[in-house]
Amino acid sequence: MEAIVYTSNTGHTAEYAKILGEKTGLPVYALSGAQKQLSSGTEIIYLGWLFANGIKGYKKAAKKYKISAICAVGLCDTGTALDEVRKANALSEEIPLFTMQGGMDKTKLRGINKFMINMLTKGIDSKKDRTEEDERMLYLLKNDKNYVSEDNTSAFMEWYCKQ
Ligand SMILES: Cc1cc2nc3c(=O)[nH]c(=O)nc-3n(C[C@H](O)[C@H](O)[C@H](O)COP(=O)(O)O)c2cc1C
Repeated sequence: MEAIVYTSNTGHTAEYAKILGEKTGLPVYALSGAQKQLSSGTEIIYLGWLFANGIKGYKKAAKKYKISAICAVGLCDTGTALDEVRKANALSEEIPLFTMQGGMDKTKLRGINKFMINMLTKGIDSKKDRTEEDERMLYLLKNDKNYVSEDNTSAFMEWYCKQ
């Protein structure tokens, strides 16, 4: 593995990329700027933020680089939603996938992203009989919080150290 490449919208994924860069010693690049620095076929670890279970930038990154492992950053708890994310992105069972909890920063959301979060929040808020899961999601959506932590990278680091 030669580099860490990431796509971030509000900064959480960029924070994880920086943490992993420090822990692994690998150079870190934003996907948007990586093209100039990394040649096609370079073996990378890809980090992208979750958008309706899709991993942002994954398809573009997979066309150019050899992806050894994926870290998907979302509102979901670290280590959860793996099956859904695998399915939504048509990932084979062979590729190591890790989810890491990022956070919510509505002050940085614009356009369709802001609209979708507002609609989702309103939808859950207006439900009469909210489940525990609904309440938890509502809390995560309404309160801008950053859950990025080194602890959330431990499953990834365990895998990485075995390579
Ligand atoms: C439009 C939209 C859709 C999202 N969909 C998901 C999702 O399907 N699953 C999830 O866990 N998080 C989802 N999130 C939460 C983001 O993945 C989360 O805020 C993440 O920390 C953003 O990373 P970033 O700060 O690097 O942009 C969504 C956020 C937005 C704005």
